[in-house]
Amino acid sequence: MGLIFIQLKKGKTMRPFFDLAKLTERKIGHGFLIDNVPLSKILECNHSPVYVTSLNAVAERVNIYQTTLKKYFKNNSIFYAMKANFSNPILKQVQETTAGVDIVSIGEWRAALKAGFSPQKICFAGVGKKEEEWREAIEGGLGYLNVEHLDELKDILNYISDNINKLKFIPVISLRLNPCLEVKTHPHLKTGALDSKFGILFEHFEEWVINIKQVFPNSQAFQEWISPLKGIHVHVGSQLMENKIFSLIIEKILECASFMFENNIKPYHIDLGGGLGVPYEGVSLDGTDISVHVEFFCSTLINLAKKYKKLHILWGNQCENLFVCFEPGRSIVASSTVFLTKVLYTKHNSNDHNFCFVDGAMNDFPRPSIYNAKHQCEVVNFENSEFLKQNSLRKKIHWQIVGPVCESGDFLSKDALLPKLFKNDVLAFFEAGAYCRSMASHYNLRKLPAEIFIKNGKIIEIIEN
Ligand code: LLP
Repeated sequence: MGLIFIQLKKGKTMRPFFDLAKLTERKIGHGFLIDNVPLSKILECNHSPVYVTSLNAVAERVNIYQTTLKKYFKNNSIFYAMKANFSNPILKQVQETTAGVDIVSIGEWRAALKAGFSPQKICFAGVGKKEEEWREAIEGGLGYLNVEHLDELKDILNYISDNINKLKFIPVISLRLNPCLEVKTHPHLKTGALDSKFGILFEHFEEWVINIKQVFPNSQAFQEWISPLKGIHVHVGSQLMENKIFSLIIEKILECASFMFENNIKPYHIDLGGGLGVPYEGVSLDGTDISVHVEFFCSTLINLAKKYKKLHILWGNQCENLFVCFEPGRSIVASSTVFLTKVLYTKHNSNDHNFCFVDGAMNDFPRPSIYNAKHQCEVVNFENSEFLKQNSLRKKIHWQIVGPVCESGDFLSKDALLPKLFKNDVLAFFEAGAYCRSMASHYNLRKLPAEIFIKNGKIIEIIEN
């Protein structure tokens, strides 16, 4: 078909699984390929609005995380943060790569098991877990558990010590540290500063350890009780675009690890969280965004740990005995998916106020209205053949892309530079794989959007929702 890819950044094709012809070369039903499947095949399924996902894109991003991390630590894991997108075909795809999964509720626990994850490859995080939630997971053989409150830690350790003979498996427990660091991102996505509800302050943990030791008759009894606490977890926010902050995070982790070690707690597990941002122009073709991020984190950890000689007894000189993991969400799935929606009507209130109504709305694709996110929008199919003939129609104007929900906050784009649009034209919003379908709702009693999954150049599953 001889498509010419859009060059979104100089010298680099930024959307490896999406091929879009230049505007002037797009044809009806052609000119847009999703992992080699032409748009015409997607439109034949007759679902709109719809999320379309390349599962190969998901697998590729997980693999880049895994291969880079393995270069530094032989004990390692990637736990995909399924809050970003919990659709079953995506979970199954991640599970096939041998990665684990990060969950935050019992609903996610059950969905992860259904997708085939072994309980031992599941990490249960979450800032407000109910006792019945963590009990169900621990009794089901949960592998890893991150705690966010000192009372929660005490309750869980008491429960484990009371049930030690009944439990098939004792999870590795990690303390989520609040490192009190400011990061640049949307205020709702910051999680590691003093004003944040997440994690535990180091000084609170120090005080807690000193006090709780007094409760035990001797240090052996304390050591036995505290032994499931083996890890430190930090996550300072999401959609982070700068690496600088990560060396400060590592310093805080090492300070805490060193305190633990001096108090007969053996931290051999470090969870570096998620948070790698995804630019709205797309991700790099070869995944260097991920490899650079992981390399920076891992090499900084190994270098800074050299200062903490005592920890070498536990970790080895090159941290070879340390277990290191990440729990990324967005950077794995965002770029795997487009959101497609059809034009219903247009309305021109003035030269500056051009509205394009589409059949998708804030309930289907919520990030623009919640975070003012600016997902790139392209017209990928033209219903009106006049468009193809008349050059004047191709002149671009500034549109507000809006949906049918009854409030002015319902917009998908405040400023999309697109040509004249006609009924049934199809618009694509990119980087739609993370926190889009998973945050969709039934607001206005609307149906949830459909999902189409593509693998190896074929549609393999359609979920109608
Ligand atoms: N680990 C923890 C403890 C988290 O809280 C999160 C995300 C992640 C990992 C995954 O972070 P990621 O790699 O995806 O940045 N709804 C928002 C994003 C909320 C992120 C919540 N926590 C959005 O649409 O941007």
